[in-house]
Amino acid sequence: MVVGAQWGDEGKGKVIDLLTEKVDFVVRFQGGNNAGHTVVVGEQEFVMHLIPSGILHSGKFCVIGNGVVVDPGALLEEIESLKKRGIEVDDHLGVSDQAHLIFPYHKALDKLREAKVGPGKIGTTGRGIGPCYTDKAARVGIRLADLLDDEVFRRKLKLNLEEKNALFRSFYQAPAFEFEAIYQEYCGYRERIAPYCINAPVILNRAIQEGKSILFEGAQGTWLDIDHGTYPYVTSSNATAGGACVGTGVGPTQIDQVIGVVKAYTTRVGEGPFPTEFPPVLMEQIRSKGKEFGATTGRPRRCGWFDAVLVRHAILVNGMTEIAVTKLDVLDDSPRVKIATHYRLEGKTLEAPPATIDRWNQVEPVYEEHPGWLTDTTQVSCFEDLPPQARRYLKRLEELLRVKISIVSVGSKREQAFHV
Ligand code: IMP
Repeated sequence: MVVGAQWGDEGKGKVIDLLTEKVDFVVRFQGGNNAGHTVVVGEQEFVMHLIPSGILHSGKFCVIGNGVVVDPGALLEEIESLKKRGIEVDDHLGVSDQAHLIFPYHKALDKLREAKVGPGKIGTTGRGIGPCYTDKAARVGIRLADLLDDEVFRRKLKLNLEEKNALFRSFYQAPAFEFEAIYQEYCGYRERIAPYCINAPVILNRAIQEGKSILFEGAQGTWLDIDHGTYPYVTSSNATAGGACVGTGVGPTQIDQVIGVVKAYTTRVGEGPFPTEFPPVLMEQIRSKGKEFGATTGRPRRCGWFDAVLVRHAILVNGMTEIAVTKLDVLDDSPRVKIATHYRLEGKTLEAPPATIDRWNQVEPVYEEHPGWLTDTTQVSCFEDLPPQARRYLKRLEELLRVKISIVSVGSKREQAFHV
């Protein structure tokens, strides 16, 4: 399993792409098209939002699990755009019939809610993710299997619209949604999505029994997890390792390796605490060198130093067995590099993160400083060839995190990464 140990955008797509060669199945288990996994193959860049990036390898079967929220229009668009670029999708993609569907009213609610709270907003991607998971938890959500049954679909959509439209009209003073327009739009999707519809737990567990191997592809990151993240500045799903079991129907006893992905520094998109955030000048430098702009919304990412407190806790809650460090090359021009080893709060040392946003906003990161390597690392293909200062930086991260670094990535291309 590959999961993010920071606030998402750690470069999981690249790590998954590297590991895909060795597996038979690649599976998404949570989130939706709020995610954006960028994979560069040769001169071509692919940004995947819903479909596992394993689809770029031939002969793999990719699954969108029940824990994912699916915007059918966005999924079909992604399928079409992959096909146009010569990627085989049919017979290589399955979508769980238990996955919940995103509707236009979810997207509208997402945006209206954010606008209503103003400065206290979360900074969501506006893709309707939160409202769709809200409906799932409220037990009124509409799943892919429901869409396939016209009578059930009509009934559920009607019920949902009655409630949502009352909210749009009275609370948000916004236009209501017409049943017929949504119904027709989604009936159009039905025929096109039906061929991909699968009973994912049965297919995945059968594959395990047959000795096949499965790679679980996490989206977002630990600190955006609804339970373990910087709540409420989180997404609405479990982006941590446990989410893979509930989000696919594969039991925890089947999972033997959890790889945490971290950037050599830290980024976050959207609002919420970020103790090691850079001051403006450094922010600009690293953002432009690291091309730190959201793959989904294009928003500039906030950037900061590596925060070992965050990652140590991520290792704990995910049971991570190893770490992949990405974008090491982005620090190539930095004369000094810093790592936050712990926090200070009210005169006390904190080894683990606080529980509330108020306390998060008050913590002061305590840094250690290391000399930078001031050498281009983008052509390096093994650990021993890294400049000594870069090796020391990685070794120090290993000491602080107490897990092994097993993969290092030094650029966006497939070949710019190596196992350690
Ligand atoms: P939502 O998932 O659209 O509801 O957004 C909630 C928070 O998660 C916001 O701060 C988003 O910027 C953040 N977020 C959601 N998906 C991603 C992602 O793939 N990478 C980084 N941040 C994300």
